[in-house]
Amino acid sequence: MPAPPRIFLTRRLPDPVMEVLAERFEVARTKADKPLSARSIARGAAGCQGLVCMLSDAVGETVFSACPDLKIVANYATGTDNVDLRAAKERGVVVTNTPGVLAEATADLAFALLLAVARRVVEGDRLVRSGRWTGWGPTVLLGTDVQTRHLGIIGMGRIGQAMARRAQGFGMDIAYHNRRRVPKAVEAALGAHYLSLDELLATSDFVSLHCPLTPETRGLLDAGALARMKRGAYLINTARGEVVDEAALIDALESGRLTGAGLDVFVGEPRVNPRLLALNNVVLAPHTGSATWDTRTRMGLMVADNLAAFFDGREPPNRVA
Ligand code: GLV
Ligand code: GLV
Repeated sequence: MPAPPRIFLTRRLPDPVMEVLAERFEVARTKADKPLSARSIARGAAGCQGLVCMLSDAVGETVFSACPDLKIVANYATGTDNVDLRAAKERGVVVTNTPGVLAEATADLAFALLLAVARRVVEGDRLVRSGRWTGWGPTVLLGTDVQTRHLGIIGMGRIGQAMARRAQGFGMDIAYHNRRRVPKAVEAALGAHYLSLDELLATSDFVSLHCPLTPETRGLLDAGALARMKRGAYLINTARGEVVDEAALIDALESGRLTGAGLDVFVGEPRVNPRLLALNNVVLAPHTGSATWDTRTRMGLMVADNLAAFFDGREPPNRVA
C-alpha cells in the first residue's frame, strides 16, 4: 500500500473528525491548539500534500512558496476570504470549503442576535447580575417587537434563506438583496421579495448580512450605505466584519441613528474596537455562528470527504478553486 498522504491540520477538530482523518491520512499538527501565523503554518505544512486550515489562518504566498508539495487546501469554513485563491490557482493548488452544513446553525445565531438586541436580553442579564434591579416595571428595558417588522437580508444563499425561514415563523416581513434573484418558487416559499440594496436599506427595521467577503462586498455597508438605513434600525452581522465600515457603524450606534447591532464578526478579530465594547446597544459574539458540536463535526467530515476525494483522484465535492 502506498504511504497515506501527509496533511497538516492547523487546529484540533472535534474527536469524530480527528478519528476519520487519522484513518486516512498521516496527520501533523502543532502541540498547542492556538491560532498560527502564516510562517508557522508554512513551517508545519512543509512536506505535506494537504493543509486543513481555519478561517483565521491567512493562507497565501508565504505558505505556498514554503510548501511546494502542497496540492490541496481544505478550509474548515464556508468563507474562503482567508485563502489567496488566485495564488492557489497559479500554483495549481485545489481549494475546498464547507458550505451548506453550517447554514442552519449560523442562521440560528443570527436570529439569536436579532432577538437579543431587539429585546435587550444581554442588558437584562447585566441588570439582574448587578443587583440593581428594583423589580418589574412598566417601562423597564423596553425593546422592539419583531413581528410585522421589516427584515432585510443581504446575501440570499443557504444561510440567508435559513434566516428567512426563521423570520417567517416570527411574523416578519422579509425582503432580500442578492447579486442574482433567487428562483420565484424560493421567493414564494420564503415569502421574501427582492429589493435593490438602497431600497432594502431604506425600508428595513433589521438588516442582516449573509454574503461572503469578496472584493465586491468589502465595505458594502460603508458610511454612505449606513446613512441610507432607516433611522432607528438594527444591523446583524454574522458574515464578515470587513463587509461593514466598522467605524461608521459605531458612529451611527453612538449617535442613536441606529438603535442597535448584533455582531458575531469584527474587523481585525479577535481584537475588537474598544468603542464597540463601551456600547450598551450592541450584542457581541466571538465568531460562533457555526459553533455547535453537530455542525463543527459535519464541517470536519466534509473536509475529510474533500481530501479523500482529491487523493483518490476524484473531483472534491466542495471545490472553490
Ligand atoms: C464562518 O465564518 C465560516 O465561514 O465558516
Ligand atoms: C452557506 O454555506 C451558504 O452557502 O450560504
